[in-house]
Amino acid sequence: MRSVMPADPLSDLSLDEIEARAVPLLDPGVLAYYAGGAGEERTVADNRAAWGRRRPVPRVLTGTGTASTRGELLGAPLELPVLAAPTALHAIAHPGGEAATARACAAAGTVMVLSMMGSARPAAIARAAPEGRRWLQLYVLRDRGATDALVDEAVAHGFEALVVTVDTPIMGMRPREERSPFALPPGVEQPVVGDAAARTGVAPERFFADLVDPALGWDDLEALVARAPLPVLVKGIHHPDDARRAVDAGAAGVIVSNHGGRQLDGVPATADLLGPAVAAVGGRVPVLVDGGIRRGIDVCVALALGADAVLVGRPVLYGLAAGGQAGVEAVLDRLRRELAGALVLLGCGDLAAARGITLWS
Ligand SMILES: Cc1cc2nc3c(=O)[nH]c(=O)nc-3n(C[C@H](O)[C@H](O)[C@H](O)COP(=O)(O)O)c2cc1C
Repeated sequence: MRSVMPADPLSDLSLDEIEARAVPLLDPGVLAYYAGGAGEERTVADNRAAWGRRRPVPRVLTGTGTASTRGELLGAPLELPVLAAPTALHAIAHPGGEAATARACAAAGTVMVLSMMGSARPAAIARAAPEGRRWLQLYVLRDRGATDALVDEAVAHGFEALVVTVDTPIMGMRPREERSPFALPPGVEQPVVGDAAARTGVAPERFFADLVDPALGWDDLEALVARAPLPVLVKGIHHPDDARRAVDAGAAGVIVSNHGGRQLDGVPATADLLGPAVAAVGGRVPVLVDGGIRRGIDVCVALALGADAVLVGRPVLYGLAAGGQAGVEAVLDRLRRELAGALVLLGCGDLAAARGITLWS
């Protein structure tokens, strides 16, 4: 007799359905923090809509019956061109926290980008998923010594790259968050923020007000790249001239991002910003993009517009809330299957072929 394994309840769900499972499980303040954006959330909505405004046109009779989602990024293999974006505080989604996310990313063969505002420190992520690929996101602090100490920890624990976020000189105004504040539950910490605050005698809650350098310039980026023992990707690029300038400053990659619509409401969707940024970079370094990517076909559109890979933020948090490590695995596996299927139907056997997809817009 054949034994039938019980179906994983999340494995057949779309990212929207996984989000719907997560929402009732989250504290209202945490949900407002995760889901919310700046202002009236026009950019949050447009990030998502803009992928759908571009329609990839299938090519037929290409002899393509299967597609590979495998590629390479910064010289190392990637099973899926979808990375986990840096997002703060995974432990308020699920007790497994960033360690669970790191294990799920390792299982999917993709990179986890750990936020410096995370509820785990770099060393803990390395312990949780030693075989996984990991990058560290940082905000440049006024206290450059604190920034350097964090970079040293990342290097010591096998992080491959730094992601410097440059779109947050101040926090965006987020009415949903302001209306529903939440307190960190007992036992949840932000160890890296805590260390930096302790070094300078500043309260950790004043991270953006007092610790992050709000007046960062291109010279600071150049100095950071020159000092950094790891490749530096610049996250939060909107304008094509800034994309070019980041590469001139030594960036090893550019991430087109409006912070998931959480900074300035009314800025363009990232699908609209991507093409000009790709043209400005001119193939010198990889270009990544995030914001509103929820379907395999969105990934196809990003690849067709010239992205080398994409990142997803909120879907990882919802996967984590809905099912811990298995929930994040379900999110990444769903995107992998949707992407592979879409590639076949578009007549592309691999990611390189996706660059040639015609977009009907
Ligand atoms: C709850 C939350 C926390 C975030 N924290 C950070 C962070 O600490 N550092 C950072 O660079 N970006 C942060 N982001 C932005 C993400 O890295 C990413 O740009 C964005 O979520 C992508 O949009 P998506 O959520 O629609 O996929 C955060 C986003 C969310 C939703």
